[in-house]
Amino acid sequence: MADSVSAFAREEQGGSLQKGDAAILRFLAAAEIVESDLWQQYNELGGIQDSEVPGGSGNPEYTAALKNLDGDMDQYIHDNTDDEFSHWFFINAYLESKGAEAVDLDRFRILPSSKATGAQQIGRLTNLMHLTVDTSWYTRYRSAHNPDLEPGFSFPQAVPGLAKGQHPAIPRNDSDLMPQDHIQAIANTAGFHFAFIEQGGTSLYPSLAQRVTDGEVLQILLSIGPTETAHFQTWHDKAGNGVNGSILPSPLIDPNDPTLVFPNLNTNPGGPLFQTNLIMPEPCSFLSRKFPRCSIIRPTQTNGAAMGAAKALTADGLFIGQSKDFFELVLDLAADADRAKRES
Ligand SMILES: [Fe+2]
Ligand SMILES: [Fe+2]
Repeated sequence: MADSVSAFAREEQGGSLQKGDAAILRFLAAAEIVESDLWQQYNELGGIQDSEVPGGSGNPEYTAALKNLDGDMDQYIHDNTDDEFSHWFFINAYLESKGAEAVDLDRFRILPSSKATGAQQIGRLTNLMHLTVDTSWYTRYRSAHNPDLEPGFSFPQAVPGLAKGQHPAIPRNDSDLMPQDHIQAIANTAGFHFAFIEQGGTSLYPSLAQRVTDGEVLQILLSIGPTETAHFQTWHDKAGNGVNGSILPSPLIDPNDPTLVFPNLNTNPGGPLFQTNLIMPEPCSFLSRKFPRCSIIRPTQTNGAAMGAAKALTADGLFIGQSKDFFELVLDLAADADRAKRES
């Protein structure tokens, strides 16, 4: 009896939306809440403080280190944060307008804030202080290989030291603000993490769009997804500014963790897979090798796309310290989204 009631309740979660469409929107709402939480932490310390994105008071040393990547970093961080909140609020409001259940993760805001000057002291959903950042997106977009056609293909890491161990992307407390090369390594870590997060959204929306049914839901995915790409493209350019040998020491070695090295990628290793200004997506194989190469977002294969995104965020270390219930809910939302099929 309990099972049939909960099965009935689950079916009702979609309200007037087709069940698969509701499941996809609910997973995306969860992803946007996660993005909002992490971007808010970045903004409190390294962004612009105003009423549009309130809460923090700024950290001058971290903000200055980020500005070595681009003088407008604080504005871009602020605006990316504002965008994520707008995605979260919109998708949840749309779900509710259709009588579907919105996503609420407030009970999981249990992780600690940075103790550095500038951060507010509240519970967080995500943890930016123990990240393992996969930087293979950097070479994936410079390569003519497409992971959709070559699932086992291994794209090299741009910054191998970030892809192993655990690294802070925000100062954990004020002792992280010195020496200069240490706070710069934290800012550079953030620079690569910004792009890691946004390349994920860049693939997630087109991957899931292939399985929505309703034209208006498709319009939502096709309209939000490219803003993730706009973010990614910006961060792709800025990450390269931390490793192009022009402003920062090169290589930049974190004095507190000598395994974390940011090489000058134009010379070490150099070449077209690493050259920092090659930020436009290199044409690659698409659908079949019988077609000419095409400049595209990749990957966009749709099977298991939501679960792939949930696992990538987990492997990133964002959820270190989260409760078992949190992981269960995220995996449930991903599994439901991945069961969605386009109905004719
Ligand atoms: Fe977003
Ligand atoms: Fe995003």
